[in-house]
Amino acid sequence: MFYQLPPVGNPINLSSAGSDDMLLQLTDSRYQPHYYASGTAALAAAIIAAIKLKNVGRPEVILPAYGCPDLISAAVFAGAQPVLVDLEADCPWMNLAQLAEKTSEQTVAIIGVNLFGISERLSQLRILAERVGAVLIEDSAQAFPGSSGVCVWQGDLVILSFGRGKPVSLLGGGAVLCNKEKASYSELTRLMPEGEMRARSNMLAPVQFWLKAKLYNGMINPRLYWLPQSLPFLHLGETRYHPLSEIASMDKERLSRLATNIKAYQSNTVGVQNKLREILAQCDLDKYGITDLPHLCKIPEQQRLLRYPLLVRRDARDELYEKLSRIGLGVSRMYPAILPEIDGLEMLKQQCNFSEAKSFAERLLTLPTHAQVKQRDIDHIGMIISG
Ligand SMILES: Cc1ncc(COP(=O)(O)O)c(C=O)c1O
Repeated sequence: MFYQLPPVGNPINLSSAGSDDMLLQLTDSRYQPHYYASGTAALAAAIIAAIKLKNVGRPEVILPAYGCPDLISAAVFAGAQPVLVDLEADCPWMNLAQLAEKTSEQTVAIIGVNLFGISERLSQLRILAERVGAVLIEDSAQAFPGSSGVCVWQGDLVILSFGRGKPVSLLGGGAVLCNKEKASYSELTRLMPEGEMRARSNMLAPVQFWLKAKLYNGMINPRLYWLPQSLPFLHLGETRYHPLSEIASMDKERLSRLATNIKAYQSNTVGVQNKLREILAQCDLDKYGITDLPHLCKIPEQQRLLRYPLLVRRDARDELYEKLSRIGLGVSRMYPAILPEIDGLEMLKQQCNFSEAKSFAERLLTLPTHAQVKQRDIDHIGMIISG
């Protein structure tokens, strides 16, 4: 009971060497970053720029029907109608036929999400976006390139999050990366709203951030993670809709530590996820009706995954989840339902026809890929899956 792996959990590095320009050196120099207080604020800023660029009466943004409710918060704050698209069968990708049907002159942006680190098919989304003059937004909050550089961003605008449980985590912060190679680059950069500077309420901000980060690093230790997990007011792992109230800029505490944390993330290897891949290849996946999604989506071995996603037969998913979580193996069922069924998102109720996204939500199980996962945990996962 006292050994509990967190489902995600890269520790925060508190050293502040290096400048924020290193984001470019360490990732992709084709992009110009704009920093915001969260990934949600960054996405809202990107949608606002897309709305201004196209300037239509009733702007719409297209996004998948299964995913993080923060996408809706960003669209609503920006003043765009979210238009949901079903997933392809047994895949984390949007259904291209439905996407084509729902794309119209009102579409200002198509948002492709790199869910768990699995890249969306951006080149196909681009064809549809260009047909109607919409901006292609690549939401890469859950995907960040490792040292190999695999996870090549393709969006006109790329969204990053440095929030809790993200690949590079600083417990807050986000960015929009503008693609310098696209014709829309200078217009979009000009139209991107500035983040409001939050008034520094006190001189204690550096100490507060330091304490928060130390506490977080302690709590994601597998010997201590049971503690925050047993505190219901922390709402760990719950999916909730939080409306966005402002677009603020990223604070100095986080900005000054970004480069160090990117370096720390990139110095980790893809060892755990490749060991999971190997063990799954040796297991009898039929017992629980398991689909190995990274394998199915042909994700290259060097591409970093935030979580290792599986689809499990509907009537077996919860049983497998209970067995793995009883011995603290860091499994998660992620978002419990499609977006129109999440509390607070009744505004999406009139949109329907998302049977594949629904089936995905009911069958998903993720395994942890972070550096605290040991060979012993991977062997346990293999033993339980093989029954
Ligand atoms: C795909 C995706 N986009 C955007 C966000 C919002 O990021 P943040 O939590 O930094 O606001 C999240 C958060 O989990 C996410 O998963």
